[in-house]
Amino acid sequence: MNTETLLQVRSEFPGLEKKIILSSCSQSAISLDVMNAMDEYKNSLLDEGMSWETWMEKVNRAKERFAKIINCDSSEVAVLSSVSDSISSILHSLDLNKQDVCITEMDFPCVGHAVLAQKHIQDFHVTFIPAENNMIPIENYETHITENTALTCISHVSYYNGFKQNIKDIANIAHKKGSLLLVDAYQSAGAVNIDVKDMDIDILVTGMQKYLLGVPGISFLYVKKELAERLYPTTTGWFGQANPFAFDLKHLDYAHSAQRFNTGTPPVINAYIADAALSFIEEIGMDTIKYHLAKLSSFTIKKAAELGFEIASPLDNNKKGTCTAIYVNNANNIEKQLKQAGFVVSARKDVIRIAPHIYNSEEDIVNCLLQLKELSH
Ligand SMILES: Cc1ncc(COP(=O)(O)O)c(C=O)c1O
Repeated sequence: MNTETLLQVRSEFPGLEKKIILSSCSQSAISLDVMNAMDEYKNSLLDEGMSWETWMEKVNRAKERFAKIINCDSSEVAVLSSVSDSISSILHSLDLNKQDVCITEMDFPCVGHAVLAQKHIQDFHVTFIPAENNMIPIENYETHITENTALTCISHVSYYNGFKQNIKDIANIAHKKGSLLLVDAYQSAGAVNIDVKDMDIDILVTGMQKYLLGVPGISFLYVKKELAERLYPTTTGWFGQANPFAFDLKHLDYAHSAQRFNTGTPPVINAYIADAALSFIEEIGMDTIKYHLAKLSSFTIKKAAELGFEIASPLDNNKKGTCTAIYVNNANNIEKQLKQAGFVVSARKDVIRIAPHIYNSEEDIVNCLLQLKELSH
């Protein structure tokens, strides 16, 4: 991206006038389009009072835009409120009795929580696939997924250090052994390539708050059509019915495809925001974004190494998403100090995560690393 285009993109994100925002692994900067979408919802309430038709249009449009990003049909996408909800809904719809569920040691904690909670109502075994040096060797999937594994849950990109996995290879192992594959794409959607068909993913969950440039409160759940039709979610509601507006209290008539995973009234304001944010991403183009972020990712690794930081992320850019994790003492405290100095980054456990987006430059990263160097001495 040339300097002129970068300046143009930056001008769309007013928060950058006050701070250098490098926290896309947690909350990205919000664009003028997103701010306008918040106003649009407010105005629809003020001007029209109630407008189900417009609200549902927004939900459907957001869903269609998201489906395009991951290459599926929009009927294969349900709209829920959080990744935690989406994973719980899937677990409630599967018969896991006497079988095995594999999750990895690098999954976001909510995956573990949802799986362990399910053990209160189903009798199955949980295997944690081990990590080595903050990565998961592919052989560990070969070893731990067995013919008795019903479901394997993985993160596409790790929330902790940006470790990126080869989904196709993992899907191949899981499917060979008869396991479904659930991919948590919250740290990859909007930053790296996702093609659910080519990657042979059965179930994918993500939300808008991170690299999709939106806010929390909405989650997209992809369930492959042929699989969804075989599942009967017990976490459900009127929007998971074939015709929500039939107001039929006495019958359960699940909608087709992944629509049966919808529950109650969708998060409407979040759908306004998602529609605007995804439309912004479409305008810039996923290819431009992916290329820019891959460049910034390798630049961050190189610069951090030059400055003598100990890096928790893979050094090979092919095994990494956008975020670079740097070991520091008192990471939470350093996060606060960096914010006071004008840099928004996100701490997790013993690392500071530097997670740029399309609006960031190499200069942003150098300045942040120099400030981090000063604070961590
Ligand atoms: C990879 C990953 N999965 C799940 C979550 C949690 O998502 P939610 O709060 O929508 O349940 C996060 C939040 O940071 C995450 O990074």
